Amino acid sequence: MINIQKAAIIGCGFVGASAAFSLIHKGLFSELVLIDANHKKAEGEAMDLSHGRPFVKPVKIYAGSFDDISDCSLIIITAGANQKPGETRLDLVHKNVAILKSIIPEITGRGFEGILMIVANPVDILTYAALKISGYPKERVIGSGTVLDTARFRYLLSEHLQVDSRSVHAFIIGEHGDSELAVWSGANVSGIDINSFCELRGYYDHMESMEKIYRNVRDSAYDIIERKGATYYGVAMAVSRITESIIRNEHSVMPVSSYIDGPYGLTDICLSVPTIVGQNGAEKVLEIPLNESEKKQLCDSAGELKKIIENLEL
Ligand code: LAC
Repeated sequence: MINIQKAAIIGCGFVGASAAFSLIHKGLFSELVLIDANHKKAEGEAMDLSHGRPFVKPVKIYAGSFDDISDCSLIIITAGANQKPGETRLDLVHKNVAILKSIIPEITGRGFEGILMIVANPVDILTYAALKISGYPKERVIGSGTVLDTARFRYLLSEHLQVDSRSVHAFIIGEHGDSELAVWSGANVSGIDINSFCELRGYYDHMESMEKIYRNVRDSAYDIIERKGATYYGVAMAVSRITESIIRNEHSVMPVSSYIDGPYGLTDICLSVPTIVGQNGAEKVLEIPLNESEKKQLCDSAGELKKIIENLEL
């Protein structure tokens, strides 16, 4: 039986701990299990977070083991090596697939029936690997994907246009990584297309600004890692927003990474495109209109991921 109010986080590094911190402020769960290969680290995080309990909705947070996860509605996997300065997300693939191979059987072996959310990088490859190793239906395995990149994109556009980022409707899709793309053709501020809104604000050098904003989004993680060694708050907030849509069954449209076989002419791959997210996970992959250049970029992004998937031994 699934307990909708119970979730587990596997991997209590910066990302896992920040996700826990963000989640308890959403008040979605009454029980949160923290699991880490270093049990003492999980204990420390659970203690630290529990001390804030009088400030949030009641939630039991504890360091647990895989024996505690069978009735969880959601398991979030952040375990894995993270990027060092100069490394790409794809450089992490072998180390992190190996870690996933040890974790997934622990989950499937315990009759878990909820949603599996992959956050560790390279997230699209790991989502694909988790799906194949677990044998779960495709809706139940999702990656945090480009939800963070899309937030970065909306934030930067909102700064440029001096408008609330929540009124900016625009997506980053494809790989959560170097080959991702911005869907400029559909970008708008409350229905006003992005170029018209730029002109409303007195900007006319569209090509140049678009290129700069896109590069800034794509390279955000590198820019942060160079300064503070890791990224975690942004991704943690993205994770808790996705979680909210799952647990509250909101059917929000988000660019999570999920299995795609057919839409956009893509086959047997996991990457991010706008998807309806609810209690059943990635409930429906949406085919949004793309122009020819965007179609090609999405295809190329899938091609980059395919090269890696083909060499995986799952
Ligand atoms: C980032 C990491 C989570 O983009 O990949 O910050």
